[in-house]
Amino acid sequence: MRHFISIKDVENLPELVNKALDFKKDPWKHAEFGKHKTLGLIFLNPSLRTRLSTQKAAQTLGMSIMLMNFDNEGWALETEEGVVMKGTSAEHVKEGAAVVGQYCDIIGVRSFPKLRSRDEDYSDVMLSKFIQYANVPIVSLESSILHPLQSLTDLMTIEEYRTVKKPKVVLTWVPHFKSLPQAVPNSFAEWMNHPDANVDFVITHPPGYELAEQFRGKAEIIYDQNEALKDADFVYAKNWSSYHQYGKVLTTDSSWVIDNSKMDLTNNGKFMHCLPLRRNLKVMDEVLDGPQAIHIQQAANRVHAAQAVLKKMLEDNF
Ligand code: CP
Repeated sequence: MRHFISIKDVENLPELVNKALDFKKDPWKHAEFGKHKTLGLIFLNPSLRTRLSTQKAAQTLGMSIMLMNFDNEGWALETEEGVVMKGTSAEHVKEGAAVVGQYCDIIGVRSFPKLRSRDEDYSDVMLSKFIQYANVPIVSLESSILHPLQSLTDLMTIEEYRTVKKPKVVLTWVPHFKSLPQAVPNSFAEWMNHPDANVDFVITHPPGYELAEQFRGKAEIIYDQNEALKDADFVYAKNWSSYHQYGKVLTTDSSWVIDNSKMDLTNNGKFMHCLPLRRNLKVMDEVLDGPQAIHIQQAANRVHAAQAVLKKMLEDNF
């Protein structure tokens, strides 16, 4: 695996998930594996889980870490080719990425979409430029369109908690007044649609929130949330803005909030969310503090998913 940008970079999905589960049993089993290797973590946007879990993962492999919040510590990066740099950007990504690549053996990049132009966001320009110019392996820490470290964690967590061979997994849109990216649901759909995920995958959302076809694939779309949640083994809640009316909030209908009455429709289903989330706006306290919620255990698994990915990248590139 040269880069980790999407599920397409994964040659053997069950093997990667099992590696993550193995790391959970014995987190320090490869404590020297990344000795003398440096992981650079470049954040153009805020983060709690990705930032801390990826640092922790690198530490357990013996790697050194350099972390920079480019949004307020670095020079603003220009991505357009051939431009006269008269604007606010002081450094071109050609130099910025190339220089970080001189100091680091693997680079993680977080770069959110601006949600103004679908073409611009879906070309995932910042991540692509780092791949082009850094000359070292790149791991996505959430791009404009995908969040593969989160999705590997999600699949690992489903593997850990599955009680039936082929569980029903429901991705449900939940309301929010802000315009949020599609990266997490796109990525979750991509991973759940993989044949080796071995799940019955359903997506439920109000009309107008259909995800891009390239990611939603053959997932069953059910517009009635109550019908979709029936007998679910896993409920994955997330808000996203519209893909087709790009970046728009089409509704904030509170009937889509997840509460105990929604969870009662499930097969004693587990509740998941990538976090962060606003309590009682998207999901009620009674669910988050109840016995079906596994969102904290899910967040804990971020470390082990990152360990599996970094170990594989170290194996394959050095
Ligand atoms: N789920 C997730 O990526 O969390 P952070 O944005 O806090 O990193």
